[in-house]
Amino acid sequence: MLFKIIFSFLLLAAALHYAIKLVKHKSLYPFMPFKYNFRRRRVTFARTLKLLSERKVKIIVETGTSRDGLKNTKGDGGATIVFGKWAQQNNAQMHSVDISEDSVKGSQREVDNQGLNDSVTVHLNDSLTFLKTFSQSVDFLYLDSYDYSKTDKDIQTKSQEHHLQEFKIIEHKLHKNSIVLIDDCGLPGGGKGKTVIDYMVKKNWKVLINAYQVLLVKKESLSID
Ligand SMILES: C[S@@+](CC[C@H](N)C(=O)[O-])C[C@H]1O[C@@H](n2cnc3c(N)ncnc32)[C@H](O)[C@@H]1O
Repeated sequence: MLFKIIFSFLLLAAALHYAIKLVKHKSLYPFMPFKYNFRRRRVTFARTLKLLSERKVKIIVETGTSRDGLKNTKGDGGATIVFGKWAQQNNAQMHSVDISEDSVKGSQREVDNQGLNDSVTVHLNDSLTFLKTFSQSVDFLYLDSYDYSKTDKDIQTKSQEHHLQEFKIIEHKLHKNSIVLIDDCGLPGGGKGKTVIDYMVKKNWKVLINAYQVLLVKKESLSID
């Protein structure tokens, strides 16, 4: 009898454990294999992927590359591979830039592994320098470079300032239908996007999703005329 009770209890605990895991598991299936958990970025990644298709995006620029490939989708996002895969399927090109040799190596490894070389180029450079020389019109800009800190105010300000500078440098290459996604915003102190979003809103950008990531488009791209 006691054995039966213990067994039932363990079974229930295991079922509960897996049920909670499943609820917390935010996949982008069927676009990405079910095993990858995009957690707090799932909602914004999903909406962005839809927008990329609707707006027939051809050129994607990402600052801060997927240093761990797809190994850390919960923590970092794995955007280079997610949007790189979309680029390959939609005849677009993605440029991802990173200042760290290790990050570039890690990202390039997964780009190779996924067979995305024809659609994704990973550049080793400071994002500000890279963006200054980028000559094409940008349809989708993903800002996710200078690492933020939840506690260090100096790092917070530097990260926010860096993302603002990135935007200002490439702003003239954006057009009416461009899409901008900014990572790591839902954090103490406003995250990476605080300063740049204030700037963008003043310049008639509209926030479509305000969550852990912030997704913006130009107001004029939403007007029906
Ligand atoms: C959070 S990771 C990027 C994650 C990636 N976007 C993803 O979705 O997996 C931040 C990256 O920004 C890079 N970084 C920091 N400062 C930079 C700068 N000034 N220029 C370019 N990359 C920078 C770091 O080396 C790091 O690899």
